Amino acid sequence: GNKSINAKLVLLGDVGAGKSSLVLRFVKDQFVEFQESTIGAAFFSQTLAVNDATVKFEIWDTAGQERYHSLAPMYYRGAAAAIIVFDVTNQASFERAKKWVQELQAQGNPNMVMALAGNKSDLLDARKVTAEEAQTYAQENGLFFMETSAKTATNVKEIFYEIARRLPRV
Ligand code: GTP
Ligand code: MG
Repeated sequence: GNKSINAKLVLLGDVGAGKSSLVLRFVKDQFVEFQESTIGAAFFSQTLAVNDATVKFEIWDTAGQERYHSLAPMYYRGAAAAIIVFDVTNQASFERAKKWVQELQAQGNPNMVMALAGNKSDLLDARKVTAEEAQTYAQENGLFFMETSAKTATNVKEIFYEIARRLPRV
């Protein structure tokens, strides 16, 4: 039969990496050029049907600003999945993403499905982090990697779909 799964999902990553934009694209199929920086965190929910299940994502879009870092455990605790987002045009955001992965590996749910999103892949001329570099890092650290663009909608549905596919079927 078709299973119904509730999955808490958290987005983590540097300021401006595009966490809110990815969620806005996934939930409302919209994009705004001047998305405001998130204060604290924002909650969304969205349902996605995969082959054998209907997954209801309970999404926590966290704030990347450093002063909110101490709040993060509230959002990733008990999460079934995480999307760690960096901006492919910003090397520092990739380094920040690696720090989030380390923190989740140390403190998070050990069965968490983790995705690494290299966002803003539409900005071809400004790229600083290669897909190869990010893919290698992801492979070595037990995440799956996708390049995304909230602006053009590239791989946005796909990354949530791949998470849904990988969630444990209880
Ligand atoms: P915080 O809430 O401050 O942690 O940032 P965030 O990670 O939520 O980033 P946000 O979604 O606010 O995006 C920051 C800026 O990048 C906004 O001006 C977006 O329009 C822009 N942006 C987000 N995603 C993309 C993308 O895929 N391509 C391009 N070109 N711009 C993007
Ligand atoms: Mg935000």
